[in-house]
Amino acid sequence: MDVWILESAHAVAVKAADICGELIQRKPDARLGLATGATPQALYAELIRRNRQDHLSFAHVETFNLDEYLGIGPDHPQSFHRAMRDSLFAEVDIDPANTHLLRGDSSDPVAEARAYEALIKRRGGIDLQILGIGRNGHIGFNEPGSSLGSRTRVKTLARATLRDNQLGHPDFEEPIMAITMGIGTILDARALVVLATGAAKAEAVAAALEGPLAAICPASAIQLHPDATVVLDPEAAADLRLTDYYELVDQARRRLPRTSGRI
Ligand code: GLP
Repeated sequence: MDVWILESAHAVAVKAADICGELIQRKPDARLGLATGATPQALYAELIRRNRQDHLSFAHVETFNLDEYLGIGPDHPQSFHRAMRDSLFAEVDIDPANTHLLRGDSSDPVAEARAYEALIKRRGGIDLQILGIGRNGHIGFNEPGSSLGSRTRVKTLARATLRDNQLGHPDFEEPIMAITMGIGTILDARALVVLATGAAKAEAVAAALEGPLAAICPASAIQLHPDATVVLDPEAAADLRLTDYYELVDQARRRLPRTSGRI
């Protein structure tokens, strides 16, 4: 696991954009796994900036989102479909046909989940999966207790998630279920980039990176991945025990000549 503790949330976004950008330069038809929530918003803003100013093109990029609320359609204002359109897709040169999200309004969510798994496989798998972490340690909507080998499926949201993600709309019933890539699906991505910023994430980050591998903290599954990069601001990194080591790794990295891959 490659852990970067950077000076600010902005630096986290820039580092994540560097990783995405390098992949897209190397492989213009890269397949990105994307997340919603507050954390990746600065990353998306930085990617939009690079698309406009640095000619980073998404013309051949394909995307797969992690999850969607069950029971709401793509045009619903609180849907993740809408959030992705507003925060990234409508602002860059991506082909909407290449943006894949689970349909929360599917009449058969089990078939929807199965079809999504098949689609990811058919397209050749995800090259780079962006992940945030819930305060309770969830990734996607894989709540504590999720099987570490799970595939895309319907999950009931945890009370903590319902509180954190309150959609606050008086005129519709809050979804209490979601359809989400499984932890096994996430681990199949060739590389993971996990982002966390802010003090509210410190406990979950420490459990995920340095706690036991356990279903109680779904994000701990990233410990199994051979190519996981974790990018944190100092607040999110505050509860880590190995900070001194991560700093040493950073110093060692700076001494190395540029290499063709990660060390
Ligand atoms: C969610 C999403 C996750 C996200 C997490 C953290 O509800 N399903 O994909 O990573 O919560 O969200 P935030 O970045 O807003 O803290």
